Amino acid sequence: MLNAYISGVGAYVPPRVVTNQALADEYGIDTTDEWIIQRTGIRERRFADAGVYTSDVAVPACEAAIENAGLRKQDIDLIIFATLSPDFHFPGSGVYLQKKLGLTEGENARFVPCLDIRNQCSGFVYGLGTAASMVRSGQHKHVLLVGAEIHSHAIDLTTRGRTVSTLFGDGAGAVVVSATDEDRGVRGWDLGADGRFANNLCLKIWDMSQKPYFRVNERDEGEIPVDMLWPYMEGKVVFRHAVQRMVETLMQSCMKHDLTKDDIDLFFFHQANLRINEYIANMIGLPPEKVPSNIERYGNTTAATIPLLLEEAVRTGKLERGMKIALVAFGSGFTWGSAIVDW
Ligand code: UT7
Repeated sequence: MLNAYISGVGAYVPPRVVTNQALADEYGIDTTDEWIIQRTGIRERRFADAGVYTSDVAVPACEAAIENAGLRKQDIDLIIFATLSPDFHFPGSGVYLQKKLGLTEGENARFVPCLDIRNQCSGFVYGLGTAASMVRSGQHKHVLLVGAEIHSHAIDLTTRGRTVSTLFGDGAGAVVVSATDEDRGVRGWDLGADGRFANNLCLKIWDMSQKPYFRVNERDEGEIPVDMLWPYMEGKVVFRHAVQRMVETLMQSCMKHDLTKDDIDLFFFHQANLRINEYIANMIGLPPEKVPSNIERYGNTTAATIPLLLEEAVRTGKLERGMKIALVAFGSGFTWGSAIVDW
């Protein structure tokens, strides 16, 4: 039987470190290091400079993942790009990534299909299910899946937006999902969504019901009401549902594969809030060493959190071939998902 396994991982974060204290000192946000650490566990995050696109941070992560898989870029036969901060309204960021990877140039140009996934914090897990399905069907051999975000250009870095803007950071993580005849890889996944909560965590910068969808002023410039400019989040509602759905989807995945928590070596949880993950780990009874975390250094990078964490675990020797791992995510939509992988 054809299986799909993760053959390579890569990651990239912009070099500029922004500490909690810098949010107060440099951006003038009425916040404290203590408040942010206590509520979220975040100590610092990375911010990209002006002029950097989401596809730009994706490139080094993808190149590293392809190299880590022992492949050449030309071996990739499908690109899947998960993000909530695409370069533009359209087209999707996958095609920009394809070009920036150099796949459209020269004799060996590869005009591979590019697919964008719009599932926010669950984007990577949704993308993994999609990539694994494509591989298992025999249609694709090496799928490049990247989760990448530039949040810092599109959050309200003032006191008004502090509940959201102190949480998010920029970065990218990528994997290659490859075909194998060996008995290992992505075993399965469980995905879910509840559209009743679509407006509890959203960014409505464009509203297609309006005609025209941006008002145009006498200087021919589009005008956007400030309350539509920035992401909106009802933190407590999100927190409550995140805990419930992440536990449920993890249980579903375990049941589908006849596993108990003790059969799983490492749990890679979406990094939205250390307190959410500690709460879940406590509820299920997971020892902290089985639940890697890096939110303290990167904040919430939405679609990039899980691949960033995977890359770090591989690089530091924590995640080794032969281990059984679970990936679990929850985010805007609300959407959620989990996957079981034999690494
Ligand atoms: O990736 C998935 C999406 N996101 C999540 O999973 C996030 C889930 N939610 C959370 O993590 C938490 O709800 C937050 C960390 C966002 C907020 O924590 P909270 O305990 O729910 O705080 P709150 O929003 O109820 O705010 C409590 C107080 C408020 O002040 P008042 O009204 O009590 O005077 C806020 O204005 O804390 C204030 N506050 C802040 N103070 C300092 C909110 N943000 C900040 C801040 N610094 N950054």
